[in-house]
Formats: sequence, C-alpha cells, structure tokens
Amino acid sequence: MSDAVIEMKHFRKSFGDKVVHKDINFSVKKGECLGLLGGSGIGKSVILRSLIGLEKPDSGQILINGEDIAQFKESELVRIRKKVAYVFQGGALFDSMSVYQNLAYPLLEHTDMNDIEVRNRIVDTLDELHMPNTEHLYPADLSGGMQKRIGLARSIIMGPEVILYDEPTAGLDPFNTIRIQEIIMELKAKGVTSMLVTHDIPTAARVCDRAVIVADGIVQAGVTHEEMNSGSNETYRKFIEGELR
Ligand SMILES: Nc1ncnc2c1ncn2[C@@H]1O[C@H](COP(=O)(O)OP(=O)(O)O)[C@@H](O)[C@H]1O
Ligand SMILES: [Mg+2]
Repeated sequence: MSDAVIEMKHFRKSFGDKVVHKDINFSVKKGECLGLLGGSGIGKSVILRSLIGLEKPDSGQILINGEDIAQFKESELVRIRKKVAYVFQGGALFDSMSVYQNLAYPLLEHTDMNDIEVRNRIVDTLDELHMPNTEHLYPADLSGGMQKRIGLARSIIMGPEVILYDEPTAGLDPFNTIRIQEIIMELKAKGVTSMLVTHDIPTAARVCDRAVIVADGIVQAGVTHEEMNSGSNETYRKFIEGELR
C-alpha cells in the first residue's frame, strides 16, 4: 500500500486528435503541497478536473486514498467531491447573494447541519481566512482580492481533506497574493493535502514542498522546495527562464 493521498499513473488524455497528456505520473503524500508547473494550455486544469472526476482519462489510473476514481460512477464521485475541493480560476460567487448566503449554500445543499451549526461554521471559516464580520456584504462591495478569498472560503467550508488550487493568485496584487499564500500554508499546517497550479513562481517556491514540471505531455522533472528556492535544478531553471514550454 502506498501512503499517497493522490496518485496519477500513466494518465493519458486527448481532445479530438490532439494528445494533451501522453503519460503523466505523480503522487502527493498526506499533508504535502505539490506544485504543478507548466506553460499555458499544457493541461494543468484538465489534470485537476480529472482528480474530481470532471474529466475521464483515455487510460491510466487516478487514485484518491488508493481508490481508482477513473472508473467511478457519478454517485460515487459525489462522495469524492466532499473530500476533494477544487478552487477554480475565477471562483465565481453568486452576485445576488450576500457573503453569508454564498457560504451557507454548500452547507445547506450537502450537509444536514442546522442553522446554528451553519452560522458557526461560517464565522469560523471567515475568521480562519482573516475576514471576520463580512457576512452581510455582497460581492459588489468586495475588492477583487476579497472576492477571491470568499470564493476560497466557499470551496473549503465543507472541511475537505484535499484542496486543488487552480491559479489562486492570478491577477492579485502583492498584498492579496501574500494573504492567499498564508491561507494555503495555514491549511497545510492543519494536515490538508494540496496541489497548486500556478504561473506565480514566488508563490510556488514559498508554499510547495515539491513541484512537478509538465511539458510535452509528460512530467519532465520533479523539484524540491529547496531546489525551487536555490534555482539549482536544471529543468526548473529552464522553465522559469522560459526555455521550456
Ligand atoms: N473540454 C475540452 N474540449 C476540447 N479541448 C479541451 C477541453 N478542455 C481542455 N482542452 C484542451 O486541452 C488543453 C489543456 O487545457 P488546460 O488543462 O485548460 O490547460 P492549462 O490549464 O495548462 O492552461 C488545451 O490546449 C485545450 O485546448
Ligand atoms: Mg488552466
């Protein structure tokens, strides 16, 4: 038995006659944050979507806690999606709903929590994300950075074991970028397993324990946290200098 929470083995995926993933292999251990780096359009979002069963591989295995979800039916995927949260690009909120209503939505939909439990969970989550007393605000009242953090709050309010972050700092200023980095590290400290897709190299180098660099449909190299910060890995250096796409 492997101690991996997430494992992709020989993942292969095409769209039409375009082969995007030829043979992707990686694993993520409990409590680890793995970076997934690569140029635009190389299939990073498809990899994350596959981990919650929104895409099916043409072949290969996708193991979550040792279970191959590639073969799961929709009803079994519902169970996986309670454990694995996907924080997608944009992370759109419902504009006509307050922060409170946005956050209550997944809890009312997917749990049998009563009103008091829902309220407590929302207050705790907003505290955790350093946004107390914002329940009554509407998305239009919030800055872009705050909207992104509320979107993140909504993704994690169910208390997932695994969080998949898809470019969570895209378009954010340094202040909000650092807030997101801190949230990712705080959740990691609580034992959450995560993956981070990003073009934001300083964020990856700060929060990821390891990263894999994907190009041409395969994992070209794995790099450690130390190597990302020292720049001593040849493939990583080529990637950040734009020589690898
Ligand atoms: N639903 C889809 N239909 C057709 N092609 C798709 C679909 N989803 C993704 N692709 C193709 O797969 C490639 C990888 O997409 P994506 O995972 O979004 O890239 P990344 O996140 O690395 O920028 C893209 O080139 C895109 O054309
Ligand atoms: Mg993407």
